[in-house]
Amino acid sequence: MKKWVVNRLVLKLLLGATAFTGAGWVQAQTVNVICSVQAEWCNMIGTVYARTTGAKINISMKGSGEALAQLIAEKENPKTDIWFGGTGDPHLQAAEQGLTLEYKSPTMVQLYPWAQQQAQQSGFKTVGIYSGPLGFGYNSELLAKKKLPVPKTWADLLNPAFKGEIQVANPASSGTAYTMVATLVQMMGEDKAFEYMKQLHKNISQYTRSGTGPIKAAARGETTVSISFVHDGVGEKMQGFPLETSTPSDGTGAEIGSMSIVKGSRNLEAAKKFYEWALTPGAQEMAVAAKQFQLPSNKNAKNDARIPDFKKIKFINYDYAKYGASAERRRLIAKWEKEVNSLPR
Ligand code: G6P
Repeated sequence: MKKWVVNRLVLKLLLGATAFTGAGWVQAQTVNVICSVQAEWCNMIGTVYARTTGAKINISMKGSGEALAQLIAEKENPKTDIWFGGTGDPHLQAAEQGLTLEYKSPTMVQLYPWAQQQAQQSGFKTVGIYSGPLGFGYNSELLAKKKLPVPKTWADLLNPAFKGEIQVANPASSGTAYTMVATLVQMMGEDKAFEYMKQLHKNISQYTRSGTGPIKAAARGETTVSISFVHDGVGEKMQGFPLETSTPSDGTGAEIGSMSIVKGSRNLEAAKKFYEWALTPGAQEMAVAAKQFQLPSNKNAKNDARIPDFKKIKFINYDYAKYGASAERRRLIAKWEKEVNSLPR
């Protein structure tokens, strides 16, 4: 018995990562994933995928803008096989820059039109895996204590009473914040949107690196209001924090959280297997188990009642192709840095 165990160990060491299947020990596939959703979901995916498929999965967590920067840096020598999640605009930019691979999944037909459209717009180099609305998070206890009104429109955030009370992420690193910039430009026109953001700047206490930083800070009473994806409020509330959300009655944007296979992936077969798995209803329903409440892109995935009701939200007709184009995204972020972020507060 002991000898058998030792032999098995030696065999495992010789083979590197292995997995035991019905057919015996086989070389386990490795897949390197950049994960741009919240850590709880990334970790759950890592554990469940490894256990159920026997594959070895390496996960590195990065915000959407940072993930794109990494793919650009790795272009000549990619170390990543697949980019899971994060807002759709930088995935479209990656597609345009030839960083990701065209792949037509047979599961595409099971996806909602918005998820399929994301794929078509990129020449099938990315695909929608979830969607979520942009809005406001607020700490209801702090708001009441400070006698501040619940923000219900974009204009409400300019109230001088909110000075130093609002957080949002930096659009260079965060897809959430870029979604805000692009939403405002589409709603107001570029000049008015930048004027608005300059005014808003006076009320911002901090531009965080990650898109979820502000809503977590609001939940914990470190800021009063956040500009965030409202589905991220559900998990905070479930943990017992006094966090509520609202969506602007004058209109808002939504993200199409996306997934892309990296061009030049050294583990292409493993990447495609992971991609297919991630589009299944079962994998998509795992988000709720990890307390994430985006709308899944597979029509057959169950919709948890806590997922924000899209029918009750006033959405703008977000032009994903235009605002996911490299030149436009780079231009708007650079303009934000120069004209908004550099201003004194
Ligand atoms: C959170 C949200 C996701 C979103 C992501 C973007 O994880 O739950 O729906 O795609 O943030 O992150 P970022 O840091 O790029 O704003």
